[in-house]
Amino acid sequence: MLIPFSSATAQQSTQPEVLFDTHPEVSLNFVHVQEKLLQGYDRPFLLVDRSIIRQKTRRFMNALPRVRPHYAVKANPDRQVLGTLIEEGAGFEIASIAELDLLLSLNVPAAEIFYSNPMKSRTYLKYAANMGVEWYVIDSIEELQKIVSVKSDAKMYLRIDTPNIGSDWPLAGKFGTHLADISLIIEEAVKLKADLAGITFHVGSQCRNPQNWRVGIERSIKIFTEMQQAGLEPRLLNIGGGYPVRHQKPIPSIEVIADVINEAIAELSETIQIIAEPGRYLVSDSAYFVCQVVGTATRNEKRWMYWDAGLFGGMIEVTEGLNYEILTDRTGQCVPWSIAGPTCDSVDVLMHDIMLPADIREGDMIYIPNTGAYTTAYASTFNGFPLPDVHVI
Ligand SMILES: Cc1ncc(COP(=O)(O)O)c(C=O)c1O
Repeated sequence: MLIPFSSATAQQSTQPEVLFDTHPEVSLNFVHVQEKLLQGYDRPFLLVDRSIIRQKTRRFMNALPRVRPHYAVKANPDRQVLGTLIEEGAGFEIASIAELDLLLSLNVPAAEIFYSNPMKSRTYLKYAANMGVEWYVIDSIEELQKIVSVKSDAKMYLRIDTPNIGSDWPLAGKFGTHLADISLIIEEAVKLKADLAGITFHVGSQCRNPQNWRVGIERSIKIFTEMQQAGLEPRLLNIGGGYPVRHQKPIPSIEVIADVINEAIAELSETIQIIAEPGRYLVSDSAYFVCQVVGTATRNEKRWMYWDAGLFGGMIEVTEGLNYEILTDRTGQCVPWSIAGPTCDSVDVLMHDIMLPADIREGDMIYIPNTGAYTTAYASTFNGFPLPDVHVI
């Protein structure tokens, strides 16, 4: 067996998809998964190939020469993954002080770390300030005041609301200053003599619509003018994350997205530092997630299969419609399956009506490509099931 059966193959044979781009995407070579399994299997695992992380980072940097990637640690905080990104020259974006400590333990200078969580506890802020973090995001007057009270010379960037149209995992709503509130925040920054020095936005994760970046950049440029007129000194544009990877839906390649971004930033003065916060794009394609069928059942004539990793074991992104490709060694005729995780929680159901071979049974392996991001990072030991292992090659 070399290439296992794929749920995508089944769907594509009846419904050919027109891809947006002609640039080849990469995946970890399946032979590595087979070699790993020769050593046995005792729990779900992620197999990560560092050479793909290097390739993706270089491709990102080539496509966007003026934009430095600051990897979003939350996507996959594995030490070897981070070490590879450090070697490739990436900076970092953090959500918590645990992520900060992890980076400091790998000798990343605090000045390379952007604290991009718009809601930070005072305790975390003090800690980050003591450790030397310089840049902090805000998206409200309250957060601006909180940061100034902890670190009066903090450099801050304002997260603004941007369209998340066409993003599989939208991030709008919870964060992002509404356009109507921006002037008030600028006024408050001037009043407090705060160094409000940049703008950021997030187009939503797995964003398949490059125009969202154009809108975000155009809005940012307008706000820079307003900031300057108010006496502030804007010098950072942070175009966030969201760069998509290939699963089953078509995606625009990074080169296609870069055409839109490069055009939108072309006129920006050299005094503006431009960064991005890719998470998924840099690490997702580097890995296969491997788990096992614990058992199958027929309920009311419907076929169910239960895996040893479900929503709580790393597969949570399916809840927002992320369509993973599912591969198996079986080649029988396809029937619709419902797929669930191993816990007793009724929310732990991954998908319904997925066409997979009818002869799948207990003990079969399941292989899911392009899963290096937001899988193991989300996993918990709920119900006593072990965390997936991470193996890095
Ligand atoms: C502030 C921030 N930056 C960057 C990212 C990374 O996004 P992505 O993995 O879609 O590139 C996220 C993801 O949630 C985020 O919240």
